[in-house]
Amino acid sequence: MKFIKCKDYDEMSIRAAEVLEAVVKEKPDCVLGLATGSTPVGMYSRLIEDCKAGKIDFSKCTSVNLDEYVGLGEKDDQSYRYFMNTNLFDHINIDKAKTFVPNGLESNADKACSDYEAILEKTGPQDIQVLGLGENGHIAFNEPETYFPKLTHRVDLTESTIEANARFFENQDKVPRHAYSMGIGSIFRAKKILLLASGAKKAKALKEALNGPIDPKLPASILQLHPDVVVVCDEAAMQ
Ligand code: GLP
Repeated sequence: MKFIKCKDYDEMSIRAAEVLEAVVKEKPDCVLGLATGSTPVGMYSRLIEDCKAGKIDFSKCTSVNLDEYVGLGEKDDQSYRYFMNTNLFDHINIDKAKTFVPNGLESNADKACSDYEAILEKTGPQDIQVLGLGENGHIAFNEPETYFPKLTHRVDLTESTIEANARFFENQDKVPRHAYSMGIGSIFRAKKILLLASGAKKAKALKEALNGPIDPKLPASILQLHPDVVVVCDEAAMQ
C-alpha cells in the first residue's frame, strides 16, 4: 500500500489525477473504474482541464462505475449516471457508449446485477479503480455487514449512509433506500486501486480500515489484502 499525503483537498485532487492519468498514458485503451461522491469531483475537474489542454486522451478508454441508486435513471439529477455525465463524461473525449453504470431503472434486482456483471466480464478487469470512503467505512455501496459481498448486488442502504447522502437531495425522504453496487470481488478484479479520502469526517474510518483488523463491519478494511492500493488523502483525513 502506498500513501500520498496531501496538504488539502486541492492537492489531493491533483495528485489523484496524476495517478489515474499515468495509467491512461501507459495503456490508452484501459478500463477505468470510477466512483461518485463529492471526494473525486476535484480530481474529475483536473482530468477535464488536462483533457481540454490536450495533455490526456480518453478516446480509447472504457469506464465502469461502482454503483447506482435503485429507481433513478439518467435523467434524474441525483442518479450516479447523471453525476458522471455532468462531472466528467460530458467534458472529456471519452466515448459515452463505452461508459457503464448499473441500470438503476431495472427493477428486477437479479437481472440488474447479472447484467452488470456481464458488462464487467466483457470490459475485462479495471486497470485502475477509484474509490471514495463512506463515513462508516463503506466502499462503493458495500455497507457494514457480516460478510463481504462478492459480486454486484442490491444493497439496503444504512441509515447513516442515507443521512450522509441526504445533503445531495431535497430532503432525507427523497434519498433512495436501495442501490446496486459492485461487490468486493468485482472491485478486487482491479489491477490498481486509488482510494481517496478528504476531511476529518473520514479520519476514523480511514485509520481503522488501514490499520485495524479486516472485518466486513468496516468494508474498506479488505483493501489491506489488495496487492496495489494507492491512498491519496489530505491531512484532515489522516488524523
Ligand atoms: C456514496 C458512494 C461511495 C462514496 C461515498 C462517499 O455512498 N456510493 O462510492 O465513496 O458516498 O461520498 P463522499 O465522497 O461524498 O464523502
